[in-house]
Amino acid sequence: MPRGGIDDIAGRTVLIYSRIAGTGSYLPEKIVTNADLEKVVDTTDEWISSRTGIRERRRAADGETTGDLAFYAATHALEAAGVKASEIDLIVLGTTTPDIIFPSTACLLQHRLGANGCAAFDVNAACSGFMYALGVADQFIRSGQVKKALVVGSETLSRMLDWSDRSTCVLFGDGAGAVVLEASNEPGILTTKLHADGAYKHLLYNPVGVSAGFNEQEPNHGIRVMMTGNEVFKVAVKTLDRIVGETLEAAGMHESDVDWLIPHQANLRIIEATAKRLKLSMDRVIVTVDRHGNTSSGSVPLALDEAVRSGKVQRGQTLLLEAFGGGFTWSSALLKY
Ligand code: COA
Repeated sequence: MPRGGIDDIAGRTVLIYSRIAGTGSYLPEKIVTNADLEKVVDTTDEWISSRTGIRERRRAADGETTGDLAFYAATHALEAAGVKASEIDLIVLGTTTPDIIFPSTACLLQHRLGANGCAAFDVNAACSGFMYALGVADQFIRSGQVKKALVVGSETLSRMLDWSDRSTCVLFGDGAGAVVLEASNEPGILTTKLHADGAYKHLLYNPVGVSAGFNEQEPNHGIRVMMTGNEVFKVAVKTLDRIVGETLEAAGMHESDVDWLIPHQANLRIIEATAKRLKLSMDRVIVTVDRHGNTSSGSVPLALDEAVRSGKVQRGQTLLLEAFGGGFTWSSALLKY
């Protein structure tokens, strides 16, 4: 089993893991049901729920930002961990929908929490944003540089959608989740895997930006999710199948060692395919996509927090977290909770 470690003054190897000390999440109040979307685009509840498993999603209120969602999720995670914001050494925040271009949403969050002085930065890995942030924070803790890290995934995807495009606007929602990681001698995160392949950019992307330029002729200045859904679906299933095997092998573990699969919540059929690969029955899989939709970076930590607070996930259990998103990016973490 791969383990973190640094040498102490006497030259002995001191093992360090990062353990999840607490989780938190936040969902905006406004619920948007499939029936609500039937009034906006040419779609049906039947089409959306049978193809994706989504029944409703949340939408941030006017003026409510990714940073606001992150703040509430982070506050809940700090409370659950019994850790003060001033004790945090590092904040890594996954998002594709930052409040403003700079400073990073992590810096805005840091100041609002009162954690000024620690390192704070955003990670953009689309829907893998939280998992990438977790992998990065884990490395900082294992190397001995950081003792306590706040890892957040927060998104307001509703601001990035073309509300006249039925093939994308029904899929996404707003939300945030967070974890506090602490250095520990007890096993916590056993392994993380982060991957990307930019050759797939054309299948899932947002076509405009600061440097490439915006399109003034189009609604929302051309800011929109462009997706070839059925192609994304096929690659996602195959890629997640591969990364699940790679992750278990790296930790020297087997499918039967996994107590809970906590997957990225994009589509129930993709989740079911990964569960089948793991030979896990669906009652060992945390599913929130029906109520949250795809909250991108928010998805995995939201599902984790819900599973912890509902009492499903218990201390000592083995969790497999995974995500797949634009880039393409794909990522996983196997951990003892
Ligand atoms: N309501 C009704 N019909 C819709 C629709 C909607 N909201 N969106 C698309 N359609 C139509 C299409 O126009 C198409 O019609 P046509 O056959 O007349 O051309 C038909 O449904 C089938 O479209 P297709 O894209 O092939 O459907 P699908 O079975 O692949 O399901 C997705 C579409 C998007 C649900 C599915 O491909 C998917 O979930 N892909 C993965 C997306 C994903 O996970 N993205 C995020 C990764 S992080």
